Amino acid sequence: MTDTILEPNVIAEEVQIDVTLRPRSLSDFVGQPRLKQSLELALSAAKKRGEPIDHVLLYGPPGLGKTTLSHIIASEQGGSIHVTTGPALTRAGDLAALLTNLEEGDVLFIDEIHRLSKVVEETLYSGMEDGRLDLVLGKGPAARTVTVDLKPFTLVGATTMYGSLSGPLRSRFGIINKLEYYSDVDLSAVLTRSASILKITLDKDAVVALAKRSRGTPRIANRLLRRARDTAEIHYASHLSKKAVEETVKLLEIDELGLDASDRELLTRIIKHHKGGPVGVETLASALSEDSGTIEEVYEPYLIQLGLLARTKAGRIVTDKAYTHLGLKRV
Ligand SMILES: Nc1ncnc2c1ncn2[C@@H]1O[C@H](COP(=O)(O)OP(=O)(O)OP(=O)(O)O)[C@@H](O)[C@H]1O
Ligand SMILES: [Mg+2]
Repeated sequence: MTDTILEPNVIAEEVQIDVTLRPRSLSDFVGQPRLKQSLELALSAAKKRGEPIDHVLLYGPPGLGKTTLSHIIASEQGGSIHVTTGPALTRAGDLAALLTNLEEGDVLFIDEIHRLSKVVEETLYSGMEDGRLDLVLGKGPAARTVTVDLKPFTLVGATTMYGSLSGPLRSRFGIINKLEYYSDVDLSAVLTRSASILKITLDKDAVVALAKRSRGTPRIANRLLRRARDTAEIHYASHLSKKAVEETVKLLEIDELGLDASDRELLTRIIKHHKGGPVGVETLASALSEDSGTIEEVYEPYLIQLGLLARTKAGRIVTDKAYTHLGLKRV
């Protein structure tokens, strides 16, 4: 959501910085202990057998490290990574071309895998399951089917919308992992690591202040760090203090819980138009011009984790904590 209001040149900078700050190995990857343990085990067992690891599905909100992990998996098993996205793979032939080009141990990373078309998805099934593809060559009466054997590879699929994935596709992944929001302690570690790569020095309490406002998300932590550096350079003779952080987040309209304007708009909408709820997610989605899946899998999890919002059978309700946080009274 925050991404949609950024200018194109800011997005380009963002992508560049994501690449620079991306951990290269599992040992560099902060937090997510359960996920790391399961991947470590799978990687070392596969190495022993001399095979690539089973297909991996990673899901969770944006900016928590799905793309980063797919690169790490490729490099840990000594393969190359080939990157594509669900919506970019429009024809089965495009997928076939990618798959037949893979070398043993390579990773095919499909981002937004929930957006694959039906026909591409079905082509993927036999590639994942049997390591081969049945391709139809030619058209009409002259058409014939050829079977192509693929080299052993690992498919890594990533999605923010686990619920939109079809059952058959889900069941073909041997390793399925959810990425969780990071604790303040983990985010502090991410920030310290990033600061040292970017050669930024900052006060200890500035690290904590940044971590608290990062919405549990490393990408946001890295972004705030850079914006706070700007503030420090312009207003505080490059001294990145807690005060410089506070001034920065105020400018960005990020509050002390890490909520941005869109988060607050969602909560305020429920309070002002629906008396605090319950309200259905579809109603909210159309009022906020968002897709209901995005509301459910991107906006809501963090608000629920903070105890500001709850899902009930009748719909979404905001909690007393949300009223207090927004300084609003129940009527
Ligand atoms: N565990 C981590 N330790 C350190 N840095 C991390 C970690 N996870 C993510 N990051 C940082 O956050 C940035 C965003 O991560 P990444 O691009 O992997 O997220 P993503 O889950 O793929 O997001 P999206 O759903 O938007 O594609 C990375 O470039 C990296 O700098
Ligand atoms: Mg990604």
